Amino acid sequence: MLNALIDVAREAGAIIRSARDAERSVTEKTGPRDLVTKYDLLVQELLRSRLLALLPEVGFLGEEGDHSEDLRRRAWVFIVDPIDGTTNFIQGYRNSCVSIGLAHEGRMEYGVVFNPYDGELYAAQRGRGASLNGTPIRCRDRALDHSLLIFGSALYYRELVPQTLRLFNLAFPAVQDIRRFGSAALDLCYLAAGKAGVFFECRLCPWDYAAGMLIAEEAGCLVSQLDGTAPELFQKSSILAGSPQAYWALRERFQMTKED
Ligand code: IPD
Ligand code: CA
Ligand code: CA
Repeated sequence: MLNALIDVAREAGAIIRSARDAERSVTEKTGPRDLVTKYDLLVQELLRSRLLALLPEVGFLGEEGDHSEDLRRRAWVFIVDPIDGTTNFIQGYRNSCVSIGLAHEGRMEYGVVFNPYDGELYAAQRGRGASLNGTPIRCRDRALDHSLLIFGSALYYRELVPQTLRLFNLAFPAVQDIRRFGSAALDLCYLAAGKAGVFFECRLCPWDYAAGMLIAEEAGCLVSQLDGTAPELFQKSSILAGSPQAYWALRERFQMTKED
C-alpha cells in the first residue's frame, strides 16, 4: 500500500512541478490570504480518482472537496492536501508538497509527503518507521536552545493573531532560531529528518498535518495539540510537535490548557 501511495504522490507532484502559470490561475476563496489555483483542483481530482481506484470503499477528505460527509462513520479514510504550501506555489518558492494520509478508525496508518521541486519524498507506515527517499530517518533530540523552531502563522484565523504572537514571544528567546517555511506538512517532515527540533501552529486542518504527523511520530517525535491532547483527525487542531526534549521544554514554556 505504501508504495502505491508513493506512486500516486509522484504522479500528482509532476503536475505541480510542470505548472507554468500558477500566478495567473489564482482565485480567492474567502479572502486575499485564502487562495486556490486551478492546480489545487486538478491535483485533488487526480488524487481522488487514483486513490479511490486503489481502495474504492475508503472515505475521502481533501482540502478542495466537499466536506459534508461525516467521515467518522468510515473505517478507512484518505486525508489529502493536493498542494500544501499554495502561497509558496503561487509565489515560486519551490517549497510545496502533495500530502496523502490514510487513517483507520481515527488513527493515521500511512503517510506520504512529496516535494516535487527537490524530489524529497517522506513516507511512513505505523510501526514501521519513517523514511526520506527510501532511507530511514530519525529526529534529532536536542535541548530547546539547540533546536530550530519552525513556526506556522495560522494565517486564515485573524482571531488567533494575539495567541500566535504570545506563543512566538515565549518561544523565540528559548530556541536556537526560528524558521517559517509555509507548508505545515513539510514542516513536520523537517522535524522527522532532524532539520529542526520543534514546530507549532495555533490552528491547522486535518489535511495539513495528517500525513506529516505520522511521519514525525514514526521518526521519534511527539505530536499533540498545544494543550497536550491528541489532535482529532476530523477537526481543526492546534499542533505542537518536536523531538522529545524540545517538545517537552516548549510545552512547559507555553503552559497551555484546554481553556486557552
Ligand atoms: C497552509 C500551509 C501553511 C500553514 C497554513 C496552512 P495551504 O496550507 O500549510 O504553512 O501555515 O496554516 O493552511 O493553504 O497552503 O494548503
Ligand atoms: Ca494545507
Ligand atoms: Ca492546500
